[in-house]
Amino acid sequence: MSSKTRIAIFVSGRGSNFDSIYESILSGQLNAEIVCLVADRPCLAVEKATTRQIPTFISKNESEVINHIKPMNLDFLILAGYKKIISATFIENFKRDSQLSKIINIHPSLLPAFPGLHSYAQAFNYGVKFTGVTIHFVVPDVDAGPICAQAVFSIEDCLNLEDVESRGLAIEHQLYPNTLKWIFSNQFSVKSRGSRFYVQPH
Ligand code: GRF
Repeated sequence: MSSKTRIAIFVSGRGSNFDSIYESILSGQLNAEIVCLVADRPCLAVEKATTRQIPTFISKNESEVINHIKPMNLDFLILAGYKKIISATFIENFKRDSQLSKIINIHPSLLPAFPGLHSYAQAFNYGVKFTGVTIHFVVPDVDAGPICAQAVFSIEDCLNLEDVESRGLAIEHQLYPNTLKWIFSNQFSVKSRGSRFYVQPH
């Protein structure tokens, strides 16, 4: 068996995506080890990590985070509801190669629509018929990095924001582990179109 992919998960809240990644590792779907859970504040996800005996690190200070995780020899940094904006310096410290960082994010919209915070609410309030979920590599511009995977769902019949969120989260919890599986096994290529890059599974 190939060696486990070493990851840190970054969170700020309840950690339901952390749950889905953790469970995918337990079930053998993902061959990875969560070396550390990083949070910018005390939150439910930190409590879950502690129960699971995963080392945690809480700090709002980017240099402290870099100094703490740099010696861990991480393959990927997985953002899962991490609310703090990541700087260009931080990204420079975790480059995979000349094109990609080692940092991956899940965003609850079909990017480039509805970047930023509260994206399910943005989509619902806008009145779009469909929204979705995007997994992408992180670049210094917020929610703008090379896209790896997207899933779309209808919200036309959603009566309220809670409906949209629960439909979206159910999709997130499938899409993130499924996408990480092919990313961790390096089964992808980077393609360019115009001035942009995107990532595609083999
Ligand atoms: C998710 O909707 C995720 O897409 C977004 O923040 C939310 C985090 O939820 N980036 P959770 O903490 O994983 O439950």
